[in-house]
Amino acid sequence: MYKLEHIGIAVKDMEASNELFARILGVAPYKQEEVASEGVTTSFFRTGDSKVELLEATRADSAIAKYIEKRGEGMHHVAFEVEDIHAEMERLRSAGFRLLNEEPKRGADNKLVCFVHPKTANGVLVELCQSIRD
Ligand code: CO
Repeated sequence: MYKLEHIGIAVKDMEASNELFARILGVAPYKQEEVASEGVTTSFFRTGDSKVELLEATRADSAIAKYIEKRGEGMHHVAFEVEDIHAEMERLRSAGFRLLNEEPKRGADNKLVCFVHPKTANGVLVELCQSIRD
């Protein structure tokens, strides 16, 4: 069974959104991290056993910039923690799901990540993530 790890929210203005979500959740973000390869800055809030991840584009050609251009700000993805991302990717692939990356890639917050195409997941962008143990 997957655990809900975090919910990703696309935002236009990280500073304003950090303040907004701090007011909604009653806690300050505990971590901010840029993922240069994805062209995003992320900010994380703890919400019980899960997290909220805010994502702001750092480049016009990043997936988050394109998403906001098309659909505006809001819910972007749902992330589930997995134990063995390679095994889960293989399982989903052989079950006919379309994955957006062939190999796990390095995401924010010390994770290996893979995305499942929303077209094969009821319109929801699903992220699988596995903690990297250093
Ligand atoms: Co995420």
